[in-house]
Amino acid sequence: MIDESHPPHELDPSLRKRIDALCEEGRDFWHEFDAQVRQKEWHSFVAADYDRVRDVLLSLRRRGRRFLEWGSASGVITIMADLMGFDACGIEIDASLVRAARELADRSDSEARFAVGSFIPMGWRWNPADGDGRTATIGQGPSGYIELGRALGEFDVVYGYPWSGEEALMRALMRAHGSREALLVLHNVDTGIKVYRGGKELGLDTVAGL
Ligand SMILES: C[S@@+](CC[C@H](N)C(=O)[O-])C[C@H]1O[C@@H](n2cnc3c(N)ncnc32)[C@H](O)[C@@H]1O
Repeated sequence: MIDESHPPHELDPSLRKRIDALCEEGRDFWHEFDAQVRQKEWHSFVAADYDRVRDVLLSLRRRGRRFLEWGSASGVITIMADLMGFDACGIEIDASLVRAARELADRSDSEARFAVGSFIPMGWRWNPADGDGRTATIGQGPSGYIELGRALGEFDVVYGYPWSGEEALMRALMRAHGSREALLVLHNVDTGIKVYRGGKELGLDTVAGL
């Protein structure tokens, strides 16, 4: 999918159009989901700012880099990553959202793969220093890595959109099971997007060269 005539951090116009259409469909899906599901019963799916995530992924894309989305919901970001040339997978605990993501991938002519399950690997427990190991909005369920046929440590870029207070869990999980070379991209409503490697935060201006 990467057009070699364009630098990796720029999208060629036809791919930009496809990604814009994907994001538009994703936003429509979320508004419908909000009206039909979230207004009746609380659900943790809130769509990210797709344009901001797109710009960060563009700076990180390399052909074949392995990308994983934690809590992939309707699949927009995993599909976007696939269209950019990543080898992209998503894990989502809500099976109905995984069905929607697979349908969106088909319509988008994308090879992104999705697994139903938890992004927390089997046997790992959140064990912070203050002893409060509650996982907040992060659901419990069988690990999704088995269905993907890949362990967390095999991914090069891992993306998550944690609810407030859940960043620490995601960072601890990455330190415990992620590759030390992998990049962790966390989207936060208040603080924007941050990128970590080996537990340390990297400046967004430095990640393009990695
Ligand atoms: C805040 S939404 C993020 C949606 C999407 N990643 C984005 O950035 O637009 C969190 C998603 O994580 C899912 N989720 C919650 N706990 C999970 C778990 N343990 N494993 C996988 N997905 C989970 C929710 O169902 C929800 O779709």
